[in-house]
Amino acid sequence: MHLHKYEKIWLVFGISSLVLFLVIVGINAFVSGHHPPSSGKIVDPKTVETTTPFDEPGLKKIGDNEYQLVVLTSAFSFDVGTQDKVVEIPKGATVHIIATTKDVVHGFEIAGTNANMMLEPGHVSETTQVFRNEGEFTLLCNEYCGGGHHLMHAKIKVVDHV
Ligand code: CUA
Repeated sequence: MHLHKYEKIWLVFGISSLVLFLVIVGINAFVSGHHPPSSGKIVDPKTVETTTPFDEPGLKKIGDNEYQLVVLTSAFSFDVGTQDKVVEIPKGATVHIIATTKDVVHGFEIAGTNANMMLEPGHVSETTQVFRNEGEFTLLCNEYCGGGHHLMHAKIKVVDHV
């Protein structure tokens, strides 16, 4: 079989790239222990409502300008601990978000920030977000979860003082 010189170069380049990629992924996974973002914590979705911390959704102060925000989701709402589904967070606060779902897979995205997680029944999703700028941010579900998917949202209000 005759291969053109450029074909050979391209084949060598392609196969080398593939091998290099697999080596990098392999080192990350097995040596450095990297894995997809998941806290690895589990919770029984049937009893989650009575399990700490999900028995008390909402914002809780845990340190100097440091908060924990517990969110329990279900079709089709975010339980953020307030009637009006608005959470007020002081500007500059570090917020440790901990969330899960009672039923089906939901999304958890605070539009305009890096907070973006998938919520799976039985699993606890966690992320930390620093709210540096004042303003209103929409917390929304970005995984299609059924007929009321588009109704599933809440609001984060970053304020100068609470
Ligand atoms: Cu919950 Cu879409």
